[in-house]
Amino acid sequence: MSTASSTQSSGNPRTAISQAFSKAIVATLGEEFASADPLIRNTANPELGDFQCNAAMGLAKRVGQVPRDLAQSLIEAVELDELAEPLEVAGPGFINIRLKSATIADGLGSMDNPQLGIQASDDARPIVIDLCGVNVAKQMHVGHLRSTIIGDSLARVLERTGRTVLRENHLGDWGLPIAMVLFQLRANGTDLDALTLTELDAAYRAGQASAKGDARGLEAAHARHSGPHRIAELEAQQSGADEARAAAGETLVKLQQGDPELVRDWNKLIDVTMQAVYEALDLLNVEMGPDNNRGESFYRDKLQPVIDYFESESLCREDDGALVVDFKDRKRPLLIRKRDGGFLYATSDLAAIKHRTQETGADRCIYVVDARQRDHFRDVFDAARQASWGNTPDGAEVDMVHVPFGSILGPDKKPLKTRSGTNLTLASLLAEAIDRGTQEVAKRAENPSAPTHDLDETAIGAIGRAVGIGAIKYADLSNDLVRDYVFDMDRMIAFEGDTGPYLQYAHARICSLLEKGNQADLDSASLQLAAPAERQLALVLLRYAEVVADVADSLEPHRLCGYLHEVADSFSSFYQACPVLKAEDESLIRSRLRLCDLVRRVLGDGLGLLGIEAPSRM
Ligand code: ARG
Repeated sequence: MSTASSTQSSGNPRTAISQAFSKAIVATLGEEFASADPLIRNTANPELGDFQCNAAMGLAKRVGQVPRDLAQSLIEAVELDELAEPLEVAGPGFINIRLKSATIADGLGSMDNPQLGIQASDDARPIVIDLCGVNVAKQMHVGHLRSTIIGDSLARVLERTGRTVLRENHLGDWGLPIAMVLFQLRANGTDLDALTLTELDAAYRAGQASAKGDARGLEAAHARHSGPHRIAELEAQQSGADEARAAAGETLVKLQQGDPELVRDWNKLIDVTMQAVYEALDLLNVEMGPDNNRGESFYRDKLQPVIDYFESESLCREDDGALVVDFKDRKRPLLIRKRDGGFLYATSDLAAIKHRTQETGADRCIYVVDARQRDHFRDVFDAARQASWGNTPDGAEVDMVHVPFGSILGPDKKPLKTRSGTNLTLASLLAEAIDRGTQEVAKRAENPSAPTHDLDETAIGAIGRAVGIGAIKYADLSNDLVRDYVFDMDRMIAFEGDTGPYLQYAHARICSLLEKGNQADLDSASLQLAAPAERQLALVLLRYAEVVADVADSLEPHRLCGYLHEVADSFSSFYQACPVLKAEDESLIRSRLRLCDLVRRVLGDGLGLLGIEAPSRM
């Protein structure tokens, strides 16, 4: 889906094994096989080994050899420098690789640093992430919630790999709909200083409805020869709609010209809307504020130049008075200017992409927007490429990606709604999650042996909030993003299963365990990995940097969720099989404490990348 990240992982012996097998392939088959993938994979069954090389089968076919024979030749040629136990051919030509315990211990040692083995990219170009995208005068709804949660997590992952990320909130804060609501509110003499978002949202809907009229109904009424009464009624409504639209058009022109009173009132609408948005962002623990706002209004003076450029480069054509951009591989063109001269959502997005790639020099522009806008982004990206904005000024190809996501469904499997039928507001959803999280944490704290038993209400509330928000975020990030999912608070908040609280709880349990041990100079404790469960846990930990690099490339946070779940599960198995504080001697206690500490840090860091807090007590 995307360009290879320049992030490299360290600590994982898989890299060294891969390189050694690449060399062995060249030594055995010749220089022309230098780019052949050695296909080093994790083994599903730990009894067979830790990794396997799957390359012999495919290569044997290409050169006409027997796969098992080629596998044997590779084993003879490969120089693993004591990393692994003697190799074996299995089945049709797999090579099983079992690491020496010392290799795993060395790997863990080299990831035992604040970076946890993740190497920082030295690429100074920024990456733009377009997220949130709320519309002024409207309530933020669950779709914006998903965009914000997913976009923020991707931003954290990319930042973790050393990249600079610009989180851009492409607000819908300009154009006819905003002018319409502004006109309405002023016409009604509404006191804008006392306006609430609910009132504003209602005015927006009313404005939309009045301007829409019922043009189609009117046509149908004529076609159906409806009675004169009905037609007259629809005609009146339609002319009212034309008037409303004309008035809004005038308002927009005045706003565009900078009429001070209008601009002041427009800013009030933005303030009312954004205040609620900032409150939600704060609850969500998302690192965004006013500095991240670069909405449609920011591009208002950049739209005409976009049109001029497309015209001067002959990249568009006139179609019945409108301007459109054609694409070679599909029929439907992209409308960039309406017949009446008005600009569109797509025109703003073209101006935005030009700004992002040409002014800020971003080499990756990521749009976290719901799946229904797929065609829109495909068209905008293709048009941008035609306009040569698919490359940065220094010539690098820009990776433009739409990260689409599905809907959140209610128990009836329809998009989540409140009883009144309007889209559920974000605020109500977050409040419920925090409430439920707090109830869960408080219930557990009643147990006298719970580590939270002596905490006061404020502390319990803070943990409850982390649990509630963590539950929502994890549920949102742990599936394939394009899949719709059912919003089921009971399931999300459970401390067992594939949930955020399960991971948070695993992390907190390890914190408690570590508190009971001697944590001084743990990083100098020598790691002993004799028991199968501790060896298995160590191998999982070694993959952390690789998983983070993979998410940075694929932009699929559920891979990180799945990995963290594996870490927590492997920890459980380890903890059941291997006593820590009661291990047989002091050096084994220290070794296991060090291993636990690494698990704690990987879980904490990984949850952090999902934007989920990891309390130390639960
Ligand atoms: N305001 C838009 C909406 O609510 C989302 C904006 C997404 N970003 C963009 N660059 N088009 O649908």
